[in-house]
Amino acid sequence: MGRKGGRVAAKDTNFMGPTHVAVIMDGNGRWAQMRGRPRLFGHQAGVRRVREIVEACPDLGIRYLTVFAFSTENWRRTQAEVSGLMNLFRRYIQKEAQALLEAGVRVRFIGDRDRLEPKLVDMMHALEELTAGNELLNLTVAINYGGRDEVARATQRLAREVAAGRLDPEDVDAETLASFLDTCLLPDPDLVIRTSGEARISNFLLWQSAYAEYEFSPVLWPDFTADHFAEIVSNFGARERRYGAVKA
Ligand code: FPP
Repeated sequence: MGRKGGRVAAKDTNFMGPTHVAVIMDGNGRWAQMRGRPRLFGHQAGVRRVREIVEACPDLGIRYLTVFAFSTENWRRTQAEVSGLMNLFRRYIQKEAQALLEAGVRVRFIGDRDRLEPKLVDMMHALEELTAGNELLNLTVAINYGGRDEVARATQRLAREVAAGRLDPEDVDAETLASFLDTCLLPDPDLVIRTSGEARISNFLLWQSAYAEYEFSPVLWPDFTADHFAEIVSNFGARERRYGAVKA
């Protein structure tokens, strides 16, 4: 684990790097089409970049990495692409589980599992259990995830608590609602990166990104290397975040 020769190191003096980086991995389809290959070829290349970025995080001082692998809207793609992606997720879990365990990575999944195949859900659960004792890096993979869907599901759970008399509506504040979200165990992202030149958030971590910095890279995800990632992370260190307050 660990990338040699990186340009950025968390140990650099005065480096205030992000604790939690979230990534919208966009551009796989275009990357494949530019090569005259099926879209799934791009997603396969994308998996290799996930591995590379995961490995780069600890040296950059990043404790939480969240990646958007499949949105609640992605079901609208062709049956072939959807089932190809589901196979890819299963293969990723099967192939990477041992390496992630040994590398100190704790894996979590966010999103609505109800619509996913039971076999995949079982594998996701098993990987979460297997890596639950790890602390070096918290990798969260969003599958069948949508920010609005997550808030709606959280509200449903919260409403059930109110209906059962276990929660007083007067006590509901932002913190209460956040505790019902899929991300309740994660800090909010400091930095959200989207690749492929699109400047949209596409329903990703809507609630959690209230104070996040955004970076849009023109590079397609299958070309997005650990060096591209490290450069964006190092630029983040130079920014001043005020969370709505004025400069001290
Ligand atoms: C968006 O590119 C990408 C996806 C919908 C899938 C992302 C999945 C991976 C990178 C691989 C699997 C990840 C893990 C964690 C195992 P797009 O297809 O919308 O590209 P386009 O905009 O060029 O069409």
